[in-house]
Amino acid sequence: MGAFRRFIGQRLKRHGIVRAPRHLDAFEAEANRIVARHQRQTLADVAALRARHAEPIFGDVLVWDLINRLGEIHDPTDTGLGSTSQLVHTINVAAAMERDGVTDEDMLVAALIHDTGKLLMLAGEAPENVVCMNDPIGVYEDGAGLDTVTFQWNHDEFGYDRFRDHVPEHIAWLLRYHSIHFRREARLMNARDREWTAKYLKPFHHYDQNFKSPFRPAEQTLSHWRDLIFDRFPRPIPF
Ligand SMILES: [Fe+2]
Ligand SMILES: [Fe+2]
Repeated sequence: MGAFRRFIGQRLKRHGIVRAPRHLDAFEAEANRIVARHQRQTLADVAALRARHAEPIFGDVLVWDLINRLGEIHDPTDTGLGSTSQLVHTINVAAAMERDGVTDEDMLVAALIHDTGKLLMLAGEAPENVVCMNDPIGVYEDGAGLDTVTFQWNHDEFGYDRFRDHVPEHIAWLLRYHSIHFRREARLMNARDREWTAKYLKPFHHYDQNFKSPFRPAEQTLSHWRDLIFDRFPRPIPF
């Protein structure tokens, strides 16, 4: 066991959470298995997933309800969050933006809806097809543009597909690519991808990734953004 793990183990023990290191080991082991399966996705798998989820899975649903249902799931590969719900994660991404003075409502909307595609796990989809970071499958020309690349399939593509008719184009793009390694994929980007990465994806990534902790309760209730959510999505959408 490394020094950090030993340190965390001692801290947890002080709070009587003596089993936590064992739970962490089990969580990490399962996360690694899921990531390994995600890495094995093929072009045929992506085509099958796209076809399987082409039609609405949950019927017509209020976006407000979609976001609330994130309280029922956690990301089994996210060791930064542990078993913290995706609703708490979503709230803390939006809250961190607000605390930093982000006033672009489109970015706040992106924060609130970006992981709703993970609800596919409630519909029985395997976690390796819903979570994890996405790499390109195959080889592409430099500057080809992200939209010409087939990436591994997860909640990004599902969320993009469901929200593309309901949000501005750059926010739909942001939903679609929020799980790629944007520095690594820079050579595949065209001029628009590079512009939107600098303006939207890079800042979004900061808030999505850097405010995670199993010990960070929700800083707000979702009702803080109720007006914004109903203003943007007043009616149920096919999801
Ligand atoms: Fe995500
Ligand atoms: Fe997220």
